[in-house]
Amino acid sequence: MYSEKVMDHFTNPRNVGEIENASGVGTVGNAKCGDIMRIYFDIDENQVIKDVKFKTFGCGAAVATSSMATELVKGKTIYEALEVTNKAVMEALDGLPPVKVHCSLLAEEAIHAALWDYAEKNGIVIEGLSKPVDDIGETLEEEEY
Ligand code: FES
Repeated sequence: MYSEKVMDHFTNPRNVGEIENASGVGTVGNAKCGDIMRIYFDIDENQVIKDVKFKTFGCGAAVATSSMATELVKGKTIYEALEVTNKAVMEALDGLPPVKVHCSLLAEEAIHAALWDYAEKNGIVIEGLSKPVDDIGETLEEEEY
């Protein structure tokens, strides 16, 4: 049911933890399943993500997608990180079962929320970034569940 990469990132998630005095922190949840994800960014003066950590209180697919998402954004600029969509994360994991696709949205939304927090703290506007949602359940169509 799950690819080897999903199982690998689920059983051995990368970048778990938190960053003190993070440049940006994003927390999102899905009220329908109750899962929550928080991502911390350490961003340097060149807008490069030097470090990233996450905590996920969620299902295996949520853990695996957050782990892969942190690997994909590490060392990238904030604009490159914005391009890391849930589709890119799923591709990097060799796919997810259709019923678990919504879990990967937590990672994408958490990245956006952390970037939004960083932008607000620094008084900048990140082009192409819209205000993140608190509950990804609100953005999903009912039939996706
Ligand atoms: Fe909630 Fe996967 S079931 S994030």
